[in-house]
Amino acid sequence: MERLDKLICSQGMRSRREIGGVIRRGGVTVNGAVCRDPARKVDPAADTVSVEREVLRVSAFVYYMLNKPAGLLCVSRDPKAETVVDLLRPADRRRGIFPAGRLDRDTHGLVLLTDDGDLAHRILSPKKHIKKRYQAILDGPVDGAAVDAFAAGVVLADGTRCRPAGLCILQEGEHPLVEITLCEGKYHQIKRMFGTLDRGVDWLKRVSMGALTLDESLKEGEYKSLEKQDISLLFKDC
Ligand code: URA
Repeated sequence: MERLDKLICSQGMRSRREIGGVIRRGGVTVNGAVCRDPARKVDPAADTVSVEREVLRVSAFVYYMLNKPAGLLCVSRDPKAETVVDLLRPADRRRGIFPAGRLDRDTHGLVLLTDDGDLAHRILSPKKHIKKRYQAILDGPVDGAAVDAFAAGVVLADGTRCRPAGLCILQEGEHPLVEITLCEGKYHQIKRMFGTLDRGVDWLKRVSMGALTLDESLKEGEYKSLEKQDISLLFKDC
């Protein structure tokens, strides 16, 4: 059994004090009846708690797959700019939620949002070598020499050596569509890798992390909850 205010607080972004106010104003029901006592003990497994008419989904952690649009910062909070976490509906927000792995502001595609710090740590750990697949449109043609350079491990302008990466030319031309597979995540890595070949990246989208692939039915800015079995796909090869 848990205190009502503590339970609600653990599932959202609001402080215990704010939640206390909502409860006292009659905004919370337990099994359909208004409860104005923040200290009321409830059983999260058996009781149905609603906050401002929304049923509280009680879970240890949340995991969302987001199709990130360009223009948003991939951080949990920013005083000036809109972030990926701002896309979550209030009922889906949690204290401590953040993007597990960053994309640049102008990059689109797959972002995992979670409040599970251990999972994020495992995803970001360099030892795990989780493969991430991206598609990009370049500002000029590339050929087999670029594919070989990626496979050998590009040395960036500042001398940093990248691990071998996959480059596949999906559509040739003046503005080719390519697919890149990385097993690490350095700052602006793809843009810097193509920079060494005098190529710019006009458009970039992450399409998968491990075997977890972006659900293309999600429009940009939309997200969906993931289940435990989806999360395990992160640690399988794509
Ligand atoms: N590489 C980049 O250059 N940008 C991203 O957002 C991700 C990978």
